[in-house]
Amino acid sequence: MRFDIAKRGEGLTYEIRNIVGVANRLKSCGMEVTWENIGDPVHKGEKIPDWMKEVLFDLLKEDMNYAYSPTQGHDATREFIAERVNRRGKTQITPDDIIFFNGLGDAIARAYGVIRVDARVILPEPTYSTHFLAEVHHASFPPNTYRMNPYHKWHPDMNELELKVKSHKAIVGILVINPDNPTGFVYPEETLRRIVKIARENDLFLIFDEIYINMVYNGQQTVPLSDIVEDVPAISMKGISKEFPWPGARCGWIEVYNGQKDEAFAGYVQAILSQKMAEVCSTTLPQVSIPRLMSHPEYDKYLNHRLRTYEKLSNVAYNILKDVPYIVVNRTNGAFYMSIVFNEAVLNEKQTLPIEHNNIRQFIEKICSARIELDKRFVYYLLGSTGICVVPLTSFFTPLMGFRMTLLEKDMSKFEQTVRTLADKIVQYVESSKWSRD
Ligand SMILES: Cc1ncc(COP(=O)(O)O)c(C=O)c1O
Repeated sequence: MRFDIAKRGEGLTYEIRNIVGVANRLKSCGMEVTWENIGDPVHKGEKIPDWMKEVLFDLLKEDMNYAYSPTQGHDATREFIAERVNRRGKTQITPDDIIFFNGLGDAIARAYGVIRVDARVILPEPTYSTHFLAEVHHASFPPNTYRMNPYHKWHPDMNELELKVKSHKAIVGILVINPDNPTGFVYPEETLRRIVKIARENDLFLIFDEIYINMVYNGQQTVPLSDIVEDVPAISMKGISKEFPWPGARCGWIEVYNGQKDEAFAGYVQAILSQKMAEVCSTTLPQVSIPRLMSHPEYDKYLNHRLRTYEKLSNVAYNILKDVPYIVVNRTNGAFYMSIVFNEAVLNEKQTLPIEHNNIRQFIEKICSARIELDKRFVYYLLGSTGICVVPLTSFFTPLMGFRMTLLEKDMSKFEQTVRTLADKIVQYVESSKWSRD
């Protein structure tokens, strides 16, 4: 090449996928891997029900479902979604307030991509990687964050949020992920109302990632942004990857609330739409399927059945892990992730787990000989020792050491076994350096 052509990255990686490369290496050495890294129910064995497949078979018979759709999204689907928001009676939108994307990941990239480089969105910490990467990439500067507190059931630090937005004038928006990935935290209504109030008082807009909004259990309750947003300019992000579940469809959308109440916000939404126009449209078939699947008589029953399973798994995991020393855990009440945090000063670079297979041990030792985060080191030893593949918590951009697992396993006894192994390995790993010192 005449000169170096790739744009320089900022060295950030999407560890949820990155670790797959390491796990696959172990697989090639004959190790069985328990995938606990990716939030894909289908990958974890979720059976797509026949009624859902039949709806899709029927749609495949219609030629128009192979065509491009309007740039903003399929008209009838946007009408269907707007009607569902309006039916709740708290805020009113039109189909023009909805824009479809190729997955919410695409929406996230575009939503941050069109923001001026010197304007920032404050993010929760830890945060779902796609938001973090998109926000930091747009600004090429470290992020502004408010902390989720594992010692307070993952509640966000509202004082930190309020003080930071007041004192840092570059912040123009607040991101909330409800229910949250990676913590599984479900925001109570009063916390959400306080965030809306902070936005109103400081002239900010809101981004609420609500991809898991219908996945709440353990008797918890929350409300969608549309119920409480009132007059604040805001975007709700939704999708079908988790709820149908159909992550391979690459289909998500944004709902814009109060799109015309503020000139700067209206210009921002227009910039998102203009970018989308350059790409023609998003995947048609999944969009067309949304009204038919969501209003199918089996839909709520099926979703509810899945929620009961996540609820069961959240309790199994919590009950096994809550008394394990060296860590703090909180019961997950929404979405399907659980984040386990090591207490401060518990990890060091001497700790190990026994790895039987020579090649695997050498491989893991080699990766861990580089300067890596201490929770990443635990995750690699865990993988080499047990085949359990989780994601280090620091890859969700937090100084908290720990890891995220999922609640998606279909085989309950295997899940219980996995969590028990995790409990044993946490203790064994932490204490390994103690014994080597003695
Ligand atoms: C909070 C959150 N937002 C967005 C996404 C991306 O979803 P999609 O598959 O629609 O790109 C995910 C995927 O895990 C997620 O957890």
